[in-house]
Amino acid sequence: MKQENLLPTIFVILGATGDLMRKKLAPALFHLYSQEKLPKLFQVVGFSRDQLSEQQFRDMVAAIVREKVPNAQQEQVDSFVRFFAYQQGLFEEEQGYAALAEKLGMQDGQWNVCANKLFYIAASPQFYETIFRKLATSKLTEPCSPQEGWTRVIVEKPFGKDLKGAQELDRLLGKLFKEEQIYRIDHYLGKETVQNILAFRFSNSFLQDSWGNKAIERISIALLEKEGVGERGAFYDGIGALRDVGQNHVLQLLALFCMENPGNFEADLVRKNRAAILRSLNILKSNRDIAAKTKRGQYKGYTQERGVDAHSQTETYFRIETYLDTKNWKEVPIVLESGKAMLQDRVEVTVTFRHQTPCLCPEGVHYQNELHYQIQPKEGIRISFWVKKPGAEMVLEKKDFTFDYKQAFGETEIADAYVRLLYSVIRGDQTLFVSTEEIMAEWEFVDPIVRSWQNNATPLEIYEKNTTPWENT
Ligand code: BG6
Repeated sequence: MKQENLLPTIFVILGATGDLMRKKLAPALFHLYSQEKLPKLFQVVGFSRDQLSEQQFRDMVAAIVREKVPNAQQEQVDSFVRFFAYQQGLFEEEQGYAALAEKLGMQDGQWNVCANKLFYIAASPQFYETIFRKLATSKLTEPCSPQEGWTRVIVEKPFGKDLKGAQELDRLLGKLFKEEQIYRIDHYLGKETVQNILAFRFSNSFLQDSWGNKAIERISIALLEKEGVGERGAFYDGIGALRDVGQNHVLQLLALFCMENPGNFEADLVRKNRAAILRSLNILKSNRDIAAKTKRGQYKGYTQERGVDAHSQTETYFRIETYLDTKNWKEVPIVLESGKAMLQDRVEVTVTFRHQTPCLCPEGVHYQNELHYQIQPKEGIRISFWVKKPGAEMVLEKKDFTFDYKQAFGETEIADAYVRLLYSVIRGDQTLFVSTEEIMAEWEFVDPIVRSWQNNATPLEIYEKNTTPWENT
């Protein structure tokens, strides 16, 4: 979309001096600015409890950009920070919101328009409810008129801590806002390689007939990280691996890999089809099934991490085997796995194809193909195939077709997920955001497992840091 076609917009960040601003939002906004993808009339208003002058806030943003985008030109940074304004306030108190409303009104007056307004909740989840209510009661999220100035609310994960919590939050959101105003972030959906899943699946006809239980034997999704919990011990200890990345990122990857062809890329259709797959997940219910089909582990030394309970039983690794209860996927085991302090960073989906029948293969060996869809860090696709080794005898060897994203398109083409996510919100495209149906289906699947683990029905196994304790089990 051309810059001049984007309507005047004010982007309010609630929690503007926090971690998310530093790590993701300010750098992503800067990238959009340097690519001329922000509206011509644009303002960012930071809202936070810190007592800062506008200049101090702008200096903070400039320092972030200089740190995160080292090759940024000084003049570019200077003109970028002119977009930024600041409003001090507490999430719990009316005055801050009233002052914010006044600031936004003044900006509208200066531009002589009713600008679109985005409210990005970059605060800790404990404040979500208070912020939603205050935004609604202060009328900040009401458009100026039905024809002018839409308003949108952007919510980060975690969306609730369990199904009940998510339902309550959703009811509240539903009372205060319309679904088309709500953008629930799962940043995995904004990753280049994740976006490519649908393109890859639905634009390559050779995959069409082989995408289902007739040809596929198993699908494994792994989100493995080398780092431990770092400075996030206190937050992480309250949720564990399954709720931190399983309930959202891993299940979203599964939905994209297994959903039906939506017919086109319209947000509604894509979200409906993702939700349908998530709803078809076989829910493990009994302690016996959960103990048989899941594993949970904790890395050695986790209980000594800052903010972690010394007797913590929180999992830093999980592995779940389940299946999808649909005609197309029946009897295909789906393995979901994630862990911290693993041997290496690797986010990958492995699709194992069945062998041909009859299989022209030696006793005890089956010629099977595998598709490795590498999401990060080495973005690419690798497909294994069998080839005859030169020589008089019919001996076959496994080889790979590989495609490397960075080699093909260059490093800079793979922008950070937040650049894409923010651009989508500004344009009003909800495709990359999670619908309420998806969130609820994700919790329905995860909730019984978490509860059973909390009752210790599945033993917590301790693993050595930076190893591959369960790979290929
Ligand atoms: C976050 C989790 O949602 O995703 C983190 O809270 C995890 O624990 C992160 O490390 C992984 O995201 P990425 O983009 O680094 O793969």
